[in-house]
Amino acid sequence: MKWYAGSDHAGLELRRELVDALRARGEEVIDLGPESTESVDYPDYAKSVCAKVIEEGALGLLICGTGNGIAISANKVKGIRAALATDAFTARMARLHNDANVIVFGARVVGAGVAVDALNAFCDAKFEGGRHQRRVDKMMAIE
Ligand code: RB5
Repeated sequence: MKWYAGSDHAGLELRRELVDALRARGEEVIDLGPESTESVDYPDYAKSVCAKVIEEGALGLLICGTGNGIAISANKVKGIRAALATDAFTARMARLHNDANVIVFGARVVGAGVAVDALNAFCDAKFEGGRHQRRVDKMMAIE
């Protein structure tokens, strides 16, 4: 799968670890930054990552301090289903039931070990469809 990754300054370090973890699995990742810890605004990175996710049918990885600001921003983009993951269970279910196309982490909430574990669970899971497709369709009809 092709991935696009982005964060704000608070998420930079965890983003780098997660991008490495994705590449170690053989995933193609385009990292859209930022490249320094200078303060930036998370909606800017949510917007650029989500635009590419929609344009290319890719997956997205977004990180900020809590994960909330960048997740809320991402979910404003038409076609995006961004899920805030706190562990492997929430990450797996985001894919199985919600068909999430963006996974989000809070770098001030989860450690790198938990986040890598969750990201792997997300990658290993596949949307189950069926009754979940109906719910996802209704979710997207709200847009
Ligand atoms: C930045 O200080 C912080 O507000 C941001 O990373 C995030 O937690 C917002 O939701």
